[in-house]
Amino acid sequence: MRIAVRGGTVVTSVQAVLADVLIEDGRVVAVVEPGSDLSDGFARKCDEVIDAIGKYVIPGGIDVHTHLGSIGQGSYVLDSFATGTVAAALGGTTTVVDFASPSDGQGMLAGVDAYHEKTAGQCAVDYGFHVFCVGASANTLAEMDRLVDEGVSSFKMFMAYPGSLFSDDGEILQVMQRSAENGALVMMHAENGIAIDVLRAQAVDRGETSPIHHALTRPPVLEAEAVHRAAVFARLANVPLYIVHLSSAAALDQVKEARHRGQNVFAETCPQYLFLDQELLGLPDFEGARYVCSPPLRPVEHQQSIWGGLAHGHLQVVATDHCPFCTWQRELGRDDFRLIPNGLGGIEHRVELMYTGVVGGHISLTRWVDIVSTNPARMFGMFPRKGTIAPGSHADLVVFDPNRSHVISASEQAMNVDYSVYEGRELPGTVDTVLLRGNVVVRDHRFVGRAGMGEFVPRGLCQYLF
Ligand code: URP
Ligand code: ZN
Ligand code: ZN
Repeated sequence: MRIAVRGGTVVTSVQAVLADVLIEDGRVVAVVEPGSDLSDGFARKCDEVIDAIGKYVIPGGIDVHTHLGSIGQGSYVLDSFATGTVAAALGGTTTVVDFASPSDGQGMLAGVDAYHEKTAGQCAVDYGFHVFCVGASANTLAEMDRLVDEGVSSFKMFMAYPGSLFSDDGEILQVMQRSAENGALVMMHAENGIAIDVLRAQAVDRGETSPIHHALTRPPVLEAEAVHRAAVFARLANVPLYIVHLSSAAALDQVKEARHRGQNVFAETCPQYLFLDQELLGLPDFEGARYVCSPPLRPVEHQQSIWGGLAHGHLQVVATDHCPFCTWQRELGRDDFRLIPNGLGGIEHRVELMYTGVVGGHISLTRWVDIVSTNPARMFGMFPRKGTIAPGSHADLVVFDPNRSHVISASEQAMNVDYSVYEGRELPGTVDTVLLRGNVVVRDHRFVGRAGMGEFVPRGLCQYLF
């Protein structure tokens, strides 16, 4: 199968140039001057020529933080691998890395096996796994080694959620020490869950049970403290550290401090921390419950710091933490915010939302590609198979129209959730065509791929060290 994408501006993390992309058997074979003899000759013997004149051609987006079909928090995510990966494709994301979450008493290896079964034949885009790592038993540490060999090279630990996913300081240190040997990357949910639980109980005792108290009992200082503590353990163990879903200016300051000390401390943020704010949790009639996630949405002034962190390289990745719950599921916590399932949906909009940052002058065009595709690939051992447009790389491409705006509406979304937290937001550019390993999966904004086209991506070690 030979495809040429012609006449577009090819944007990678390093440059934007007018070029034709020539594709054969799922891989990029050349990126050449438009109209060159090589390009013309290739186009004459092509199965398909895609016209990208006036558009950007970028590497497929990589969303390294999703929870498709996950079970927990008293409810389950109705957006499955089947529905969620179609939404991902429509939004220009061609690879997701989801969290295999072992069920109670199940080891990490068995948990990953269960996720292989769950995903088989389901995914419309390529996919990999991280694993939830709870505690540090001898078995857990041994399983870590095995999983790294199987291409599952990153492990999420929780300083939050005591009584379920929480690991204590000693356990975190032991997992980090093991990662110094096996090369795994520890991903940290950095919030001080023990202190948060005290604040939550005190709030409920005072009768403060509505959704806004979810945010008020998880203050930025308890995120910052946890980032600092995790960075200290990473320093002791001499390993890199990746902070997930960083939400606040105070937490960002701790990342910066660790980086100034010379540590490989990295962090991801999510669109919700750039485009939504804490006030939404105060919406009347329990509507605020739709905006409950952890860490919580912050007061609007944090957004400027987070944009700055992205622009200046202190934050490297934007992922969605896609974990949507329907209105009826949020009802679980009508009388007690602690019972509202946590998480927001956004897998369909990440690439387009982040382009808003280019138009708004927060980030450059190349930085946009960096944070939605190239850095996630390098951070999680997929580069240069993924995350760039270069000879040999997977032909995961997005043709993006910067001159076609559209408005987000739940009535048109593919994500399986009954509302959108971004309802009514105007996006200045639109994903037009998407290729997954040389197969057109989105054409003129319509999904034309199929379930099962996505392949498991075994990943190497983090490639993003200083
Ligand atoms: O609220 C969130 N973030 N839900 C998903 C689980 C997690 O901690 O990432
Ligand atoms: Zn988390
Ligand atoms: Zn998450």
